[in-house]
Amino acid sequence: MAGMIPQQMIDEVRQSTDIVDIVSDYVKLQPSGKHFKALSPFTQEKTPSFIVSPDRQIYKCFSSGKGGNVFTFVMEMEKVTFPEAVEILAKRSGIDTGKYIRKREEQDEKTENSLLDTLRWAARLFNRTLESEAGRQAYAYLTGTRGLEAATIRRFGLGFAPESWEHLLRAAEEDKVPMEHLTGLGLLTRHPQRNTLYDTFRNRVIFPILTIGGQVAGFGGRTLSHDPQTPKYINSPESAIFEKSKLLYGMHTAKNEIRRQETAILVEGYMDVIALNQAGLTNAVASCGTSLTRYQATILKRYTSRVLFLYDGDNAGKKSMLAGIDILLSERLTPWIVMLPGAEDPDSFIRNYGKEAFLEELESEKSSFQDFQLQCYRDSGFMDNPDTASKAISAMTRSIALIADPVQKELYLEELSKKIDLNRQTLRKVMTASSTSGRDPSREPYGSRKSDAAPEKPTSENKPLSVPERTFLEALLESTFYGNEVLDFAASHETMFHLDNPAAHATFTHLVNRFREMGDRDGHIDITSEISSIETEEARNIAFDILFRLPVNETTRPNPAEIEQHARRCLSHFLVAVKTLMLEPLQKEKQAVLGQLQSSTEKPEQKQLFTRLHDLNNQLRTLDQEVSASISTILGRE
Ligand code: CTP
Ligand code: MN
Repeated sequence: MAGMIPQQMIDEVRQSTDIVDIVSDYVKLQPSGKHFKALSPFTQEKTPSFIVSPDRQIYKCFSSGKGGNVFTFVMEMEKVTFPEAVEILAKRSGIDTGKYIRKREEQDEKTENSLLDTLRWAARLFNRTLESEAGRQAYAYLTGTRGLEAATIRRFGLGFAPESWEHLLRAAEEDKVPMEHLTGLGLLTRHPQRNTLYDTFRNRVIFPILTIGGQVAGFGGRTLSHDPQTPKYINSPESAIFEKSKLLYGMHTAKNEIRRQETAILVEGYMDVIALNQAGLTNAVASCGTSLTRYQATILKRYTSRVLFLYDGDNAGKKSMLAGIDILLSERLTPWIVMLPGAEDPDSFIRNYGKEAFLEELESEKSSFQDFQLQCYRDSGFMDNPDTASKAISAMTRSIALIADPVQKELYLEELSKKIDLNRQTLRKVMTASSTSGRDPSREPYGSRKSDAAPEKPTSENKPLSVPERTFLEALLESTFYGNEVLDFAASHETMFHLDNPAAHATFTHLVNRFREMGDRDGHIDITSEISSIETEEARNIAFDILFRLPVNETTRPNPAEIEQHARRCLSHFLVAVKTLMLEPLQKEKQAVLGQLQSSTEKPEQKQLFTRLHDLNNQLRTLDQEVSASISTILGRE
């Protein structure tokens, strides 16, 4: 896989990217000594265990065990392959990949397109169509009825799929885009009887949905038809690339503003994000119709701790916000709510009343989540009858119980006590009872809520490395900073080493093989890149873990004498570890024999065991002497 991309390109990309810069696109990094730390983007953690080392240009997530470099990070976050990650990063650093890619095409005429290429191709086709004659009516709809400016349309890459069964199909044939990609991505649909393919999106304005990193992941399409039979929106089908519950529309465009303003505005629809952005509120993202999921909340949490809920003013919008409040609170985010009047959504409000009125509305209508809850329960008559009121109150105390900060928790409790005129002791009792008894859907005042189960925490049950195995790998990895001496030795003595741990074995063989492939003994192994292309994930993680913990050289440019000194030290550590590894099986057997001797009561058996012990001791001594002798030869060699 990695072989498809020339090594020089990989190197150039790696040298021109800074992992701190890349990771900051996805998480809020905080300086911490020599490192940076953040909440892990891989898990749902509440305390930061994700560490980035700017010196090594690597990261390590201590809660999931995942580690890697810029490439693996982008692979994880954008769900892309290694070559795609290299391409994404190249584009970001403005590296002209043409000079490398052209070379590749000369060798190999038909380059295999990836699914991501196909998504990008489709987004471009839809966008070109919107801006061409075929999209005139749709363009007029967007700029007229929907009030969008040309720059806004461009910023969000909006597109159009015309009223045709084969617009995309024909273009795909012409551009030789693989049909199986298009059916897989749901852009083409197969007619069940006729077994022919046709365009899925027809007569629709297209909203490309991007990942945080700016890759096209899928599409939403809004119909231009007024036929009530036609669904207003259709979206790309769910797939590994397009998981709606894990995406926030507009996040790519909004992330830096969210971080800067320390607030995210959360809306329901595509058009809401776009209208807000055009009005200068550039920190808006949409949960895309679904009610907020825990996963989406953790994405927001990486950038800010305040969320302004701005859902539609209708009942469905209210319900979604009530459910969203607890999700945000349990992810340690503070929700604020603005209720729009009537059935307005942010987009229609701005269009109907203008930007100024909208900003005033935000200012005057912003309420705490508690005021919002209480308002909802009062409006729906829940507070008028003791039975429903008690349900509502226990729901509200449950939200308070989710607040981590003890002072805030106390203040919200006190507020509630004042507002509903119920003493704090009673409320506290309700809170303890309702938050420990777990969720009972029948006690939810607004009916049962679908719970968004958090994704399973990865359980890393890596077999621990033995101490000599770890020392062995440490020395092997560290040695690559100072030359190839250790690798050279390892490659020529490969058969001597028996690494029981499969990850240690995989790391070792990978490096030795790479060293052999290099041919040229003076070449330099780029250890972080090498590690990220180790086959098994477990091995990669172990290798990164070791690399992460290795001490960093204080001097950036050590002189040759220092290098020599470091290289010696690595080699000697390595050889000592090798010795231990070689002696280990004999040592183990010796321990076993000693154990048997202790429990043995029969004379003949004891005699046998003593003989075996004697043998083992001899073997150990001989092997030790031999290995030590070769070690001192190697180390003493000039
Ligand atoms: N949505 C969706 N699929 C549906 C319905 C809705 O993905 N079948 C999502 C879309 O992201 C949509 C949002 O839910 O933008 C809100 O839906 P709705 O309020 O019905 O549409 P609006 O965004 O208000 O669309 P418009 O203003 O164009 O009527
Ligand atoms: Mn709308």
